[in-house]
Amino acid sequence: MRQQQRPAHTTGFWVGPRSLGHYGLALFVLVMLLAFFSHRPPAAPAAASVEERFVDSLLTQMTVEEKIGQMTLFTTDWEATGPTIRAGYQEDIRKGRCGALFNSHTVAFTRELQRIAVEETRLKIPLLFGYDVIHGYKTIFPIPLAEAASWDLEAIERSARIAAVEASAAGLHWTFAPMVDISRDPRWGRVMEGAGEDTWWGCRVAEARVRGFQGRGLGYTDAVVACVKHYAAYGAPTAGREYGTVDMSERFFREYYLPPYAAAVRAGAATVMTSFNDYDGVPATGSRYLLTEVLRRELGFAGFVVTDYTAINEMVPHGVARDEQEAGELALHAGVDMDMQGAVFQRFLKKSLDAGKVSIAQIDTAVRRILLLKYRLGLFENPYKFCDAEREKRLLLSAEHRAAARDMARKSIVLLKNERKVLPLARTARIALVGPLADNKSELIGSWSAAGNAADCVSLLEGLRAASKGAVWHANGCDLEGDSRRGFAETLALARKADVVVAAVGEAAYMSGEAASRTQLSLPGVQEALIEALAATGKPLVVVLMNGRPLAIPGVVERATALVEAWWLGTEAGNALADVLFGDYNPSGKLPMTFPRSVGQVPIFYNEKNTGRPFDPNSKWTSKYIDAPNSPLFPFGFGLSYTTFEYSAPAASARIFRAGDTLRISAVVRNIGDRAGTEVVQLYVRDLVGSVTRPVRELKGLQRIHLQPGESRTVTFALTEADLRFYRGDMTFGSEPGEFDIFIGSHSAHGQPVRVALQ
Ligand code: NOJ
Repeated sequence: MRQQQRPAHTTGFWVGPRSLGHYGLALFVLVMLLAFFSHRPPAAPAAASVEERFVDSLLTQMTVEEKIGQMTLFTTDWEATGPTIRAGYQEDIRKGRCGALFNSHTVAFTRELQRIAVEETRLKIPLLFGYDVIHGYKTIFPIPLAEAASWDLEAIERSARIAAVEASAAGLHWTFAPMVDISRDPRWGRVMEGAGEDTWWGCRVAEARVRGFQGRGLGYTDAVVACVKHYAAYGAPTAGREYGTVDMSERFFREYYLPPYAAAVRAGAATVMTSFNDYDGVPATGSRYLLTEVLRRELGFAGFVVTDYTAINEMVPHGVARDEQEAGELALHAGVDMDMQGAVFQRFLKKSLDAGKVSIAQIDTAVRRILLLKYRLGLFENPYKFCDAEREKRLLLSAEHRAAARDMARKSIVLLKNERKVLPLARTARIALVGPLADNKSELIGSWSAAGNAADCVSLLEGLRAASKGAVWHANGCDLEGDSRRGFAETLALARKADVVVAAVGEAAYMSGEAASRTQLSLPGVQEALIEALAATGKPLVVVLMNGRPLAIPGVVERATALVEAWWLGTEAGNALADVLFGDYNPSGKLPMTFPRSVGQVPIFYNEKNTGRPFDPNSKWTSKYIDAPNSPLFPFGFGLSYTTFEYSAPAASARIFRAGDTLRISAVVRNIGDRAGTEVVQLYVRDLVGSVTRPVRELKGLQRIHLQPGESRTVTFALTEADLRFYRGDMTFGSEPGEFDIFIGSHSAHGQPVRVALQ
């Protein structure tokens, strides 16, 4: 990937060749610096950096309205003809009433808006442009849940890197990602945007994505600012219903939900977005506990906090503020710096200030954080540094980016079933490709697909036809929704004359993502009936699932000869699937979320507690259902390969270890099949006795290994006392001496234990 210019703060003043406006801006910066050097406030802390002194000096020149403007973020819109600005916002920019915009992208559009800010406003403060670049900007990568199934941190980081390269080439500075909300509830539509149910893995993915977005550092023209969201605990709404209440103990919050936000902050994420939900009775956007005590004091976060869309206004219906003005005061006191779209700060903060409800120091603190980020991005030196039309043209959807998207997509596919080794398909096979997603592009780029165009996506039909040396006949069979079976007869006739049927079924993109909770986890419409009819033909049936969440589809699993979880794979979906279906790529993905048998089992997750009455098939009076097994349809971490891996029992380098020791746990993994393949080897721990109950298993590590047929490898994990820490009975964080079972296996319900003791 081509690297871009040096960070702005190491360069001299930039004077653009294009217009006198740039000279004007450079002059302004010069005047600012002169002002700052000649009137250095005596109270300025000796350690203040150049950027801090620059920003403080700028603050002294700003009116209250201009300060509040910097705390205000508005959206622009996108129409068929390109991006447009909402009525009135242009004037808001001109008057300094809005310091940041989102959904504004493309070089041409951001350049024009930036021009207004730096040429037509009093203080010429540049705008910040944000966007939801969740899994790619123009080259669309698999949805984040799918990427998490690759268990490949390098690839995940590269995906975020490419998203940043493209977004920054299109004039953007800031992405509203990564979303790091842990979720154990597939009814919640936003699980597609996260890394699944596990906290340890969620932390690793959060770090990789922050590193990818922010690249070599803010100030480089190929880096965008990451925004960790949604802080906090947004992934646990009651009953999986979007925007719902979150009620959990502090122990549970700190143990499972907080760590990925903390990991992202540690990785350097420069902004954090508040969540819509309440936590312990207080909306996150008004929670001083979350935003100041935990985020700033405990986690040491130094960037700025932006609300989610109108989240301040929503504190009125939440019932914690009488009106929007009071909601704004709550938000500022809690630690919010920027108001997204609600215009509460814009309309009321000055009134609150005049009434003595908030202080100018609080406002200055927020503005300082925002201006510092603009400075670090280099926008004061060159507000147009992300507006290079040549770069935009060269980088978006480049061949290199598409190749990386194809690689990521192949790695994200999870093989869930493969009876009679029906997969991989013979290249000469006569294939009946059916199902409502067989010839689809629009759904395959998934929800939150930024500036991605469906037309750029390779459909499964195109991918298979390009790779096949046989025949690929196609019929939809049915729609994604609705109850029409009119297409069944034609589809079944195709199936009967084919060697194998490939059925592409799943969800429409709108069914996952924001505001897309479901009470059913089945395939919508008559898709399951289509599968049933296809299975009845007796032809080998390969079901390819395209969806944004775990599905409860035991009937489909039973009827399918092979089952491939393809999520929404993005721009290169069809090519990546053809690679896997024809065996050019041996699948290695593993599920980052448990698949339930039925909605009644939800929430279902691997790291549950043992309970006082663990499941016993011979006793009614144990923890179970009377109408379904406890076990999931597919456990967390599960995924097959075209080859088979055999695991030895694990061995430990010592039976007893102490703090400061490194324990080595090893197992021999052998490829006993006839193809080379990649296996994701997983390490789980169980703490047998604690001051509080502990999960039956916790993921603590993984390794992706590639083995030739017949090859075996000793896989060794290093474990220390630090890996065994948790929130103890007294809520201190640390380990406890005692015995632990350590498992090395191919998924969360596999592998034998070795017992060790921490002294
Ligand atoms: C609301 C969503 O919850 C959030 O994730 C997103 O970044 C904003 N809208 C802006 O689009």
